Amino acid sequence: MKLLGVVVFIIVHLVNSVPIPCETPISNKLTPFFLQQVHLVDSVHSPSLAGQQLNQAYLDILPVDRLLYTYYRNANLSVEGIEPLGGWESPESDIRGVFLAFYLQASVKAYLAYNNTRQLAKAQQLVEQLSRVQKILNDSGFLAAWPSENLRKLERLEKVWAPIYCYEKLLRGLSDMYTFTGMTLAGSMMHDMLDYLYTWMVHCANTYPASHWHTMIFSTTDYEYGGISEFLYEQYGLTRDERFFWMAQQFDDGQFLGALSLNADFLQGIHANSHVPPVLGSGRRYSITGEQQYRAILENFFSLVWNNHTYSTGGSNGGNGSVGFYQQEHYSDPNRLSQTLWNNNQEFCVQYNMLKVIRVLIEWTGQVEFMNAYERVFVNSIWGTQDPSGPGHMLYSYPLGEGVSKPTAVSSGGIGYGSQFDSFWCCYTTAIDQWTKMSDSIYFFQVENEASSLYVNLFVASQLDWQAHDNLSIRQTTTFPRETTTVLTVATILDAVPFRIYLRVPSWIVANESWIEINGVRQQMTLTPSTYALLASTSWKNNDRIVYNMAMQLHVEPINDNPQLVSILFGPIVLGGLINKAKTLSRDVTSIRQVNTTAYEPLQFEATALDGSTFRLLPLYEIVNQTYTVYFPLE
Ligand SMILES: *[C@@H]1O[C@H](CO)[C@@H](O)[C@H](O)[C@H]1NC(C)=O
Ligand SMILES: *[C@@H]1O[C@H](CO)[C@@H](O)[C@H](O)[C@H]1NC(C)=O
Ligand SMILES: *[C@@H]1O[C@H](CO)[C@@H](O)[C@H](O)[C@H]1NC(C)=O
Ligand SMILES: *[C@@H]1O[C@H](CO)[C@@H](O)[C@H](O)[C@H]1NC(C)=O
Ligand SMILES: *[C@@H]1O[C@H](CO)[C@@H](O)[C@H](O)[C@H]1NC(C)=O
Ligand SMILES: *[C@@H]1O[C@H](CO)[C@@H](O)[C@H](O)[C@H]1NC(C)=O
Ligand SMILES: *[C@@H]1O[C@H](CO)[C@@H](O)[C@H](O)[C@H]1NC(C)=O
Ligand SMILES: *[C@@H]1O[C@H](CO)[C@@H](O)[C@H](O)[C@H]1NC(C)=O
Ligand SMILES: *[C@@H]1O[C@H](CO)[C@@H](O)[C@H](O)[C@H]1NC(C)=O
Repeated sequence: MKLLGVVVFIIVHLVNSVPIPCETPISNKLTPFFLQQVHLVDSVHSPSLAGQQLNQAYLDILPVDRLLYTYYRNANLSVEGIEPLGGWESPESDIRGVFLAFYLQASVKAYLAYNNTRQLAKAQQLVEQLSRVQKILNDSGFLAAWPSENLRKLERLEKVWAPIYCYEKLLRGLSDMYTFTGMTLAGSMMHDMLDYLYTWMVHCANTYPASHWHTMIFSTTDYEYGGISEFLYEQYGLTRDERFFWMAQQFDDGQFLGALSLNADFLQGIHANSHVPPVLGSGRRYSITGEQQYRAILENFFSLVWNNHTYSTGGSNGGNGSVGFYQQEHYSDPNRLSQTLWNNNQEFCVQYNMLKVIRVLIEWTGQVEFMNAYERVFVNSIWGTQDPSGPGHMLYSYPLGEGVSKPTAVSSGGIGYGSQFDSFWCCYTTAIDQWTKMSDSIYFFQVENEASSLYVNLFVASQLDWQAHDNLSIRQTTTFPRETTTVLTVATILDAVPFRIYLRVPSWIVANESWIEINGVRQQMTLTPSTYALLASTSWKNNDRIVYNMAMQLHVEPINDNPQLVSILFGPIVLGGLINKAKTLSRDVTSIRQVNTTAYEPLQFEATALDGSTFRLLPLYEIVNQTYTVYFPLE
């Protein structure tokens, strides 16, 4: 009861609080580079680049007309000869048109990250057609692939799937086109859409009691409202237009956010993906107003999910049934996590959103633990989710059980990898966005007292063009994790460029077998796990070369609720045993040995179980179709 009282207080406080002008803007510890500044480069082994290319092939095979089908139909334009898309994009789906919204976002990133001007032209064409639809609808700025009547249904609490979520995604797509490519048409379309939304929200505020709004927006998963608060707080930050602040606040769920601000773990049984974006909204609010409780919401959310609801892959949601703590797509009971392992665990879209949460924490704090977390999710829960045999075959949920496989993963309305034209799940929308920004968060920087520092977070073959330092670029060459070294080479036409380099020393490193060389000279420095290694030189010349060896070892990590049930990792990489049944292993991981490999083939291991039988293990991300098991009992 006491907790309830506090929660009610917080709800009232959250809903009634007014924007506190932020005197000095929140200063972040670290800043990510723009997508234009970092490019993935060729490598013998780069799951990031391979995934980016496969995803681009998918973007390429999706025709403009088919993407627009439901928008055309909504405006009564002829769709003769155009084949509608299937799955969640089918003309009968309430959330039709949302994939196109993500397609715009992904196109902008493809343009920024790897200069795909063809992709940008395609997105411009889509926006022009959308503008035509918006004009024909002639509905006070409203734009969607479904009628504005769906918002009336929401008002009447009738069954309708996520109209606000869809609306926000299109706002975001248009906003990206406007902000990052300068397409003014997209900007004015977005403003018209926002005017419509504002008018509708004022109408609701004048017509219904607050409790009705609460039910409309927060009561069911069907009414999922996505990242609308984040978007609106961002608009407020850009324009200082109080309308946007008021609108954003209406989407702050006091009960959910209030409990998080108290660090109460009531996540179990909560639908994961509809609750991560509102947390990002709180983070945005804090970054604009400086209100500490909104920072605490995001910080607490991360630590609750990470410490109590997360598998060894860094992924977090998905139970094995249809109710309660076992419910699919929901957070489970931290005390029963081991009972949720099967062929339908963590959803891609949730891990995509968690990376956004972790990235915010890296920016705010610069703490290495968040970079470690980012890597864990990135290499285990992003890599390995596309079937490499062709574009457009991606996973909805990731199987983590015993004797599971990706082709038998349970997906929405099907089994296994999705298909090119008939899936379009939330894990497709977020996937096309994720795979166009694989160069993001590899590097961060910091400028303090005019001194700049470069932070190397991820070990991915890439090139950084550092604009603040004219004519400086840094190339990272690596086949990580197949090989444990990465090489950084400086290129500049200047005599010397002053800046510091901090290399992340991952938590998993074998310290006494790891080392750093600068221009062939072994550095006398102790590498402590979960710190940053500051390199001795503060001035860098052309062709300066840093070789960083991060020795990996096999280790086991127990699941949250059972110290006897472990996942096997090599460095940050979760391994899957190619076996139908979980064999009992000895506590001593020397019963597992690395089989010789080169950068041209996947890492491979051989385990000897207690019963004397042997089996192979591969990195989970390298497994495509084989049957595998992730967790093993210890003797
Ligand atoms: C981007 O692509 C366009 C056209 O393909 C080309 O003209 C331009 O030089 C490229 N820009 C960069 C920075 O590579
Ligand atoms: C499209 O046609 C339907 C049915 O005739 C009508 O109700 C609707 O108003 C029309 N919409 C537009 C934008 O013309
Ligand atoms: C758009 O709607 C307004 C009234 O809402 C009407 O006056 C106007 O003629 C309409 N425009 C078109 C092109 O149909
Ligand atoms: C949640 O995580 C914290 C921090 O690791 C731990 O102390 C606590 O026991 C965990 N609770 C449950 C139920 O797992
Ligand atoms: C999920 O796991 C629990 C605990 O092992 C079990 O009781 C339940 O039957 C499982 N549900 C499904 C659908 O497999
Ligand atoms: C995986 O299996 C699917 C069918 O289940 C098949 O289409 C695909 O080619 C396979 N991929 C690989 C890389 O073997
Ligand atoms: C960077 O290089 C360009 C030509 O490549 C040159 O014009 C410019 O002055 C250089 N910048 C600095 C700071 O040296
Ligand atoms: C590193 O330390 C471990 C134990 O802490 C030891 O077993 C191993 O031999 C050491 N390796 C080297 C190269 O010294
Ligand atoms: C495997 O590695 C060991 C130790 O590095 C080496 O002596 C041996 O020749 C390698 N075997 C093969 C088949 O590559």
